[in-house]
Amino acid sequence: MYPTDRPRRLRTTPALRRLVSETDVRPRHLVLPVFVAEGLDSPKPIASMPGVVQHTRETLRKAAAEAASVGLGGIMLFGVPSRHDATGSGAVDPDGILNVGLREVREEVGDALPVMADTCLDEFTDHGHCGVLAPDGSVDNDATLEVYAEMAVAQADAGAHVVAPSGMMDGQVGRIRSALDAAGHVDTAILAYSAKYASAFYGPFREAVDSQLQGDRRTYQQDPANAREALRETTLDLAEGADMVMVKPAMAYLDVLRSVAELSDVPVAAYQVSGEYAMISAAAERGWIDRDRTILETVTGIRRAGADIVLTYWATELATRLDR
Ligand code: PBG
Repeated sequence: MYPTDRPRRLRTTPALRRLVSETDVRPRHLVLPVFVAEGLDSPKPIASMPGVVQHTRETLRKAAAEAASVGLGGIMLFGVPSRHDATGSGAVDPDGILNVGLREVREEVGDALPVMADTCLDEFTDHGHCGVLAPDGSVDNDATLEVYAEMAVAQADAGAHVVAPSGMMDGQVGRIRSALDAAGHVDTAILAYSAKYASAFYGPFREAVDSQLQGDRRTYQQDPANAREALRETTLDLAEGADMVMVKPAMAYLDVLRSVAELSDVPVAAYQVSGEYAMISAAAERGWIDRDRTILETVTGIRRAGADIVLTYWATELATRLDR
């Protein structure tokens, strides 16, 4: 018996394949995460993320200008302060490195590129947790919300178009929304890390931000075993006023991404995290996989699974290879 249906017909020429392609990746779908460090004279390479650096204020501006010129969807800033303390006070200080970076990037790109800020304390605390600690050493949810509220307002004051709470505290989106509104920042959007897992794939990021963390984040980040819980987290964030939601990491959580995308009535982002970057980079360096094809294939897969927006350290590079 010959087959009666021949799907291969539509794969016979590049033009036919292009005609029937279901998923595309454009520069506008990509957001570049960047690190800006205090007190650097020159950019500092991150060993476990070849090609990624801690930026100086100067090189951060250049990276932002480049991101805008290749048409990226946005840029997401992380700060690397030189001093840490128990409450992460560098995060709320208008002269703290992240707020300075935001101000300068905004000055550089204006409204041409959405400027986003990581709203989390782990880079700023001396214990490395995403919040402030209670006397017993646990992360104090409600005390942390007050710091996040202040941090988000400082970021909006500095010019962030979007704040991105990533600490997985309960109620963080609602608390930040009311603080932004009270400060007159009604148009500052919230990109909520709704489903963020306690993942080994954040390993290289810890080097990237000189993390002080001892222990782990399992009392606030999600258990990798749980998918239903991601829907609960997302539902809460939507009810609290999230303008966009995010799933993180990406590749090991594509099923979660798909269900969040089905549930969400706001745009959905996914974060291809540091460990995903490191893994592909290392295999490519050894010649075990084709680097460029792998990058595009993974980002396409993340889009296909339901992400409107993909955060990836390859954003700028990848954008130069894509149609606008
Ligand atoms: C927390 C934060 C982390 C990442 C982004 N925001 C680290 C963590 O939760 O431990 C990880 C990003 C990456 O691995 O690329 N501020």
